[in-house]
Amino acid sequence: MNSENINSVTALSDFAKDTLRGLSAEPKRLFSKYFYDERGDAIFQQIMAMPEYYLTDCEFEIFRKQGENILAEMPDASFDFLELGAGDGTKTKVLLQMLLTQNVDFQYLPIDISQNALNGLEENLTAELPDLKIKTLQGDYFRVLQDLKNIGTRPKVVLFLGSNIGNFAPAAAVEFLCKMHEVLSPGDSLLIGADLKKDPAVIQAAYDDPAGITASFNLNLLERMNRELGADFDLDNWKHWETYNPVTGETKSHLVSKRAQSVHFSTLDRSFDFAAWEAVWVELSQKYSLSDLENIAAQCGYEVVKHFTDERGYYADSLWRKV
Ligand code: AVJ
Repeated sequence: MNSENINSVTALSDFAKDTLRGLSAEPKRLFSKYFYDERGDAIFQQIMAMPEYYLTDCEFEIFRKQGENILAEMPDASFDFLELGAGDGTKTKVLLQMLLTQNVDFQYLPIDISQNALNGLEENLTAELPDLKIKTLQGDYFRVLQDLKNIGTRPKVVLFLGSNIGNFAPAAAVEFLCKMHEVLSPGDSLLIGADLKKDPAVIQAAYDDPAGITASFNLNLLERMNRELGADFDLDNWKHWETYNPVTGETKSHLVSKRAQSVHFSTLDRSFDFAAWEAVWVELSQKYSLSDLENIAAQCGYEVVKHFTDERGYYADSLWRKV
């Protein structure tokens, strides 16, 4: 906290810079990657436990029921298991447990933007799976792409789970997955967890739950700006608004200003004005069809090994290989 404040006097943090850039844009926007401070991590745990947020349950179901089949597709000698945006790793634990039971020679390399999440993950996994070889890496997805060639020496299996790919706009997802293809070696694979297009009511409820947990998750971003950037957002003046577009699969979260207001940022030494009902877009959670996924794989040159889906057909863990 203190170092954060000191930094902002001399050089602005990424959070401060992105906030300044986003709120100066027209229309204004904010970025969901900043949801995950300590409080945000905790609220996200609550989201994953909500009945409406089916994504986590689906991926769990897929790993429990089809984990062995997924792992049967992995290189059999030895490999490095990399996870992008590992978070708390609860779902991955199911696969790790299976690999340990099978005596597979592998190393688990979870990568996440949140050091807080990585610390919890490492502590939890070393306690529960004492035989696991684990090395955590802090950084964002783009650093991962740059460093991938230097991470590990064995065939790679890259996990990109939890519908984290949904935070990219489709064109950016293609760009990212194609760049990933460039840095992978033939025989390496990628397991992508993607949320599928489905009944719009099911998707809407997952991101606009009646208990308001998702609303508090989004509003925490305003509180984080208050805490870390010295802003004076009054949370009562804001509401969470979710939209799902069944044509494009775009699922978007917004923070809407309920009245005309001005918000001051002491660390940025400036204010931003919001008009009554001005909306700030904060998150994209893109939904895909299986054929959307196949098109992306083809565009980047991956072979689709198999789509593993849950019984309701809500969610897919899609296994791709660089040939
Ligand atoms: C962690 C990005 C996959 O978009 O579904 C959950 C985050 N936002 N509820 C998602 C989130 C609101 C989640 N991801």
